[in-house]
Amino acid sequence: MEIARRTFLGSSLVALVDGKLTGSTATAADSTGTVIPAVRPPLVISTWPFGKPSNEKALEVLKGGGTGLDAVEQGVRVTESDLTNPSVGLGGIPAAHGVVQLDACIMSGPGHKAGSVAAVEGFAHPVSIARRVMEETRHVMLVGDGAQDFARERGFEKGPKVTPGQKAAWEKWRKAQAAEKKKAPNHDTIALLLLTPSGDVFGACSTSGWGYKIPGRVGDSPIIGGGLYVDNTVGGAGATGIGENVMRYCGSFLVVEFMRQGMSPVEACLATIHRIASLDPKGYDLSINFVALDKKGRYGAAGTGSGFQYAVSCDEFSKVLQSPGATAKPIGPTGGNRL
Ligand code: GLY
Repeated sequence: MEIARRTFLGSSLVALVDGKLTGSTATAADSTGTVIPAVRPPLVISTWPFGKPSNEKALEVLKGGGTGLDAVEQGVRVTESDLTNPSVGLGGIPAAHGVVQLDACIMSGPGHKAGSVAAVEGFAHPVSIARRVMEETRHVMLVGDGAQDFARERGFEKGPKVTPGQKAAWEKWRKAQAAEKKKAPNHDTIALLLLTPSGDVFGACSTSGWGYKIPGRVGDSPIIGGGLYVDNTVGGAGATGIGENVMRYCGSFLVVEFMRQGMSPVEACLATIHRIASLDPKGYDLSINFVALDKKGRYGAAGTGSGFQYAVSCDEFSKVLQSPGATAKPIGPTGGNRL
């Protein structure tokens, strides 16, 4: 094999050969002393333990000959299909009017393309609608009725506006709300990133958002640069947590920019949280978490609190890890967002 270009990437042993990332698994320490894992791609990282089957699906799609976009879309669809997941897909917690409103986006590093939908009711796979917005329109984002009409015209799979279990919980919440007793429950997000063997980066993100939100509320997940961002020259980042605390700071964009400046993924996630906390009146009391990977096959995550769980999958392993936190405060056994 002719070596077209061989670049040692930082302190890892991963190299670019014939346009493909290759080499052995390697680790090094960054300026914080944190060990930075680096693996030979394909590499997939996503938020929460429920991201692990999505990662594995993404790898399977890629190995079966699918594109990077196919892989991230199909991966996220696994989580969207799980009607027992209260944070993603039509099993999610509804908005205050009792109907689930879904947000999602998708990004392709090659071509720097993006598609996004928000406040979509009654469709099972917003990530796929977002992909079609990207591929079939000159726009990036469609919302509400317009996104639903677009999906209906293209025959997208429909689903319940709310599951029976979530409807019953919502009715209880509404009664307690009338008595001013009940807080909104936690919500999470799947943000999934892929580095392909040819060194391209893709990402997708999907959520039902803040439980019992004001109808029409849109969080960070469908906002390019907020809940997800991919730059094919650097890497990608995604967010989970209270979207309002991510989207005001272009959180995922900032993680990628910090990686561009030379930080490792975990350093970049932590630096972003420190930056946000330094500006925010609430300091670190924000319930936000980031995952990131870079072109070198390095990956990492961090949260405002410690122990945020994220999933990493590659040819050598598929596992759930716990991230460091910007503060020692544990995120708690269920993770998610304390509202
Ligand atoms: N991070 C998801 C949301 O706040 O909607």
